[in-house]
Formats: sequence, C-alpha cells, structure tokens
Amino acid sequence: MLFSFPPNWPPRALAGLRVRLLNWFDKHQRDLPWRAATDGKRDPYRVWVSEVMLQQTTVAAVVPFFERFVAALPDVRALAAADEQRVLKLWEGLGYYRRARHLYAAARDLVRSHAGELPDDPAVWAALPGVGRYIMGAVLSQAFDRRLPIVEANSLRVLARLFAYRNDPRDGEGKAWVWSAAEAVLPAKRCGDFNQALMELGALVCKPAAPDCGNCPLAGHCEANRLGLQDQIPPKKKPLAITAVNEVGVVIRDGGTVLLCQRPADAGRWQNMWEVPHAPRADGEDVSAAARRVAQELTGLEVEPGTEVLTVKHGVTRYAIALVCVEAERVGGAFAPGAYAAAKWVTPAELAEYPVSAPQRKLMAALTDSNHQGRLF
Ligand code: ADE
Repeated sequence: MLFSFPPNWPPRALAGLRVRLLNWFDKHQRDLPWRAATDGKRDPYRVWVSEVMLQQTTVAAVVPFFERFVAALPDVRALAAADEQRVLKLWEGLGYYRRARHLYAAARDLVRSHAGELPDDPAVWAALPGVGRYIMGAVLSQAFDRRLPIVEANSLRVLARLFAYRNDPRDGEGKAWVWSAAEAVLPAKRCGDFNQALMELGALVCKPAAPDCGNCPLAGHCEANRLGLQDQIPPKKKPLAITAVNEVGVVIRDGGTVLLCQRPADAGRWQNMWEVPHAPRADGEDVSAAARRVAQELTGLEVEPGTEVLTVKHGVTRYAIALVCVEAERVGGAFAPGAYAAAKWVTPAELAEYPVSAPQRKLMAALTDSNHQGRLF
C-alpha cells in the first residue's frame, strides 16, 4: 500500500509544525559535545563519530566515549593513521564493536580516495563501510544541511504518533512509511537541526511510556494525541524469549603471566579483541572438568584448575550468560591457537592495554583488584 504525505495536511499546517519544532529545539536542546558549531558550521567528522556511537547507544552513555575518542583521534586522518587495536580500545565498553571497525575502515577509504575530505556527496558516503541511510542522512543533514531524512527509535515514535500510524513502523511496510514521513516533514533549511529536533523530542517529551503531551510543542498537530492513542502507538515490541547459558572462562597462568587470546577477524562478535578462553559448559558439567576441557579444546594446554574468581552475568542478544571464571595452572601440553588468531602470555599490568569485551573487562578488573584472594599473581 502506498501512502501520500502528509495525509490531508494543508501546507500551512506542515509549515507550522516545522516552526514550532525548531523553536522548541532552540530552547530545549541538550548541550551535547557534538553539537558545537564554529561560525555556524559543524565538523562532519565529529558529527559522524557521534552518530555512529549513538546508533545503538544512549546519549548519556555516549558522551564520555565521544569526548575521549575525538580527543585521541581529532580528525579523519588521525583515525585512519591509528592502529585498529587503538580504535577498538577507545571503543571498549561501548559495545557493537563492528561499528568501530567500519568507522575505521571508512576513514581509511576516505583518506585513500578522497584526500581525507569528508565530502558533501551522498554517493561517496553510500559506498563507505557501515554507512546506511541513517548515518548518511544524519551526517549530511547536520554537517552540510542536506535535505536528507533520518529514522531512529526516537523519531520513529514521534512520527508514528504524529500521524497516528497504527501498524508496526519497524516492519517492512512500516519502515517504508516512516522513512517517507521523515522525508515529507523536513523543511527546506535547517534540516540537520530538524532531524535532531525530532530525536530530541522523542528523547525528552514523546517518551515510550507516559509521553509528556502537556509540554509538547506538537500536541496541537498530533493525531495520536487527538485520538488518545499515544500509549498504543507504536505497538509494543514483543519481548525476546531469553535463553540461559552457562559458560566457563579459564584464566590460565604460567608463573606471573596469564594467557590472553585474540579472537579472529571473522568471529561472530568481538572480532580482533582479546579474552581469556571461554566456552559453554554442558548441563551438569562440573566447573573444574569444564575448565580442563575448555583449556584443552581452545588452547591445547593441560591445566590444573584452582579457585573460582567470580561469575560475570551478561546479556548477548537473546542469551543471558553466566560466565564462571576459574584460575588454572598450566601443567602441560603445547599451545595450539585453534580458532584464535593469536595468543600472548601477559602480566596483570598489561591486561589493561588490550581491547576486551565488557564481561572480560569485569573479570580482569577482579583479577587485578588488590582484594583478590586467588592464587594468581
Ligand atoms: N540520537 C542519535 N543522534 C542524535 C542526536 N544528534 N541528537 C540526539 N539524539 C540522537
């Protein structure tokens, strides 16, 4: 089914909506580090980095990572010249590391083929790794005021309510609807501000639960508000069925060092990052027996398990993982990397230098904590 936009809205109403939303944004927008402008211009590199970080992560979580990242790598040339391990280390804790690898690869492409310029050209951006319609619209509208739409979770909710779209705006047809809505509402100028204003309104006023319609600049335009359907639009996502998984992680020690392994570039997640070997534990499998088996299977080493360090609970997609971490002493066998790309024996102080996943960082923090009573170190 095709939709025309906006449904039955006279141009005057649309113009009114744009002015009201931009005025609200001018007054209420949060002071965020990537919004700074020099002579009215925003740095496309900073916009790009911020939008990649914000794609899967909240504003509050992103701010310190963004500040640290652009302080260390202030422009696209610095990013392209960095080592990928440094980029991953700067990203450590933000999650969805594929974003960082794509950002880095795209920066290298831009330096190689566009002299390190971030161009005002959708065709160039569309060809870069990790750049989809959202990143392209977000960067080009904010940095160059291109009239390109964006859709993310906040603006999707605002648009669905504004036009009382009752189907799911996240599925195939709904997605097409919401992108055409996002395009139709854009003004001719200040497109970047308008895109951000939609997201900001979703974050601060038009919230998923209990939207603050009494303080909404668009309440008079909003079909969901008129019909009293704000709580039903958009329809709630079905919660994921969560599966519990037990894992064992083995801290293999040899003298004053511990074995750190690097995941391969084609791993399902945490590509090229480091970890102590870990794998699922079979139902009813004893932790020590599992530690012996996992060390043997993943590294070829024979180990004698010792004390448990801690259990790290974390979620990965639809899995709730309980990772029991055990210290173990190397007693024999020859190291064979198996599925790992590389491995190193490192001292406790060196653990901090390697990019690792959030659960592995928790384990490493416990190992180097001065209260740690284990036999290690
Ligand atoms: N979410 C994603 N990008 C954003 C931005 N520029 N401002 C506020 N929230 C956002």
